[in-house]
Amino acid sequence: MRTQVGIVGAGPAGLMLSHLLHQHGVESVVLDIRTREEIEGTIRAGVLEQSTVDLMVETGVGERVKQVGMVHHGIELRFGGRGHRIDFADLTGGRGVTIYPQHEVLKDLIAQRLADGGDIRFGVSDVQVEDVTSDRPRVRFTQDGVAQQLECDLVAGCDGSRTTTRALVPAPNPRQDHFRQYPFAWFGILAEAPRSSDELVYAHHPNGFALVSTRSETVQRLYLQVDPQDSVEDWSDDRIWSELRTRVAGVDIKDGPIFDKSVLHFRSFVCEPMQYGRLFLAGDAAHTVPPTGAKGMNLAIADVHVLSRAMARFFATGDRSGLDAYTETALPRVWRAQHFSWWMTSMLHRIPGASGFDLHRQLAELDTVTRSRAGRTLLAENYVGTPFD
Ligand code: DHB
Repeated sequence: MRTQVGIVGAGPAGLMLSHLLHQHGVESVVLDIRTREEIEGTIRAGVLEQSTVDLMVETGVGERVKQVGMVHHGIELRFGGRGHRIDFADLTGGRGVTIYPQHEVLKDLIAQRLADGGDIRFGVSDVQVEDVTSDRPRVRFTQDGVAQQLECDLVAGCDGSRTTTRALVPAPNPRQDHFRQYPFAWFGILAEAPRSSDELVYAHHPNGFALVSTRSETVQRLYLQVDPQDSVEDWSDDRIWSELRTRVAGVDIKDGPIFDKSVLHFRSFVCEPMQYGRLFLAGDAAHTVPPTGAKGMNLAIADVHVLSRAMARFFATGDRSGLDAYTETALPRVWRAQHFSWWMTSMLHRIPGASGFDLHRQLAELDTVTRSRAGRTLLAENYVGTPFD
């Protein structure tokens, strides 16, 4: 079997890459070890930057996000018992974010790829990429018990934070791994309840951070900072609602049946370079951000926006310059998102063992940021995301 681009991973990066390449007349095959049901049913974040939505609309996969996505023009930061609105529309010239769950984006991309005759192989196993330093890299995999081989011109490693493709970039030369661990996790719930707030609320509290988000009129997404050792069993429904009401005091938290609980672990990670030979890494295979600020999926989309154009130029004209410059083109946005996610995380979370000085310094930082238009603008511009080039 032959294709132009072999894509490992049917997450946001892999599926969007395949979709964008198709728009440029470039063929690809997407492989994933997960089933279509798993991919379409796994709950992740739900905030799309303006540029992500614009790209979806411009390339014909934006119908549902436009119909059911909720446009938000601000967020609230709560600290010291008071709310402080960050008005995105006013601070960024009318830009905003759209609340639309990641797995809905994946459903839209899968449906469009299949409608366009795209080749996505779900539920494969033993995926192995070979010969990435040659002109003819290969992806071996097993489908329905049959060993297969995919000959490619280029390979994209879009296989998420549990990537196997990243390991093909030799470390420590040229690959440098930049890591940061955080001493906390998020406990996330989905509840059948009315909305507690018109906009997302990011709450700083001495007990720890809390986030009030939403999925629809009737389904709400809420998070609590917890100890990374905590498990779902440690948090009864009563304890969750009581802790949310304590940490987000001043907002009328509306409860209802909780139908999903999970613990999310935090990490910052960047792999540099994001390419080796004819292998190109995108999304979480190359970098991970902590969830505060919801940059993960948006960054994956930004990577493949750059990569798809470089690949299209290579196939149209033989010009490798865009491919050669992929890492240096994509990395500055990755590091800006790393900084923003780290900044939001460290400003809003209770750091275990923090002194009184640390706590007051944090509150002073929140005060500085929210009281100054320049501070609010910095936060707003980063939250809505910088436009693609
Ligand atoms: C959500 C997740 C985030 O990380 C965030 O900053 C805001 C919202 C969410 O899942 O709704």
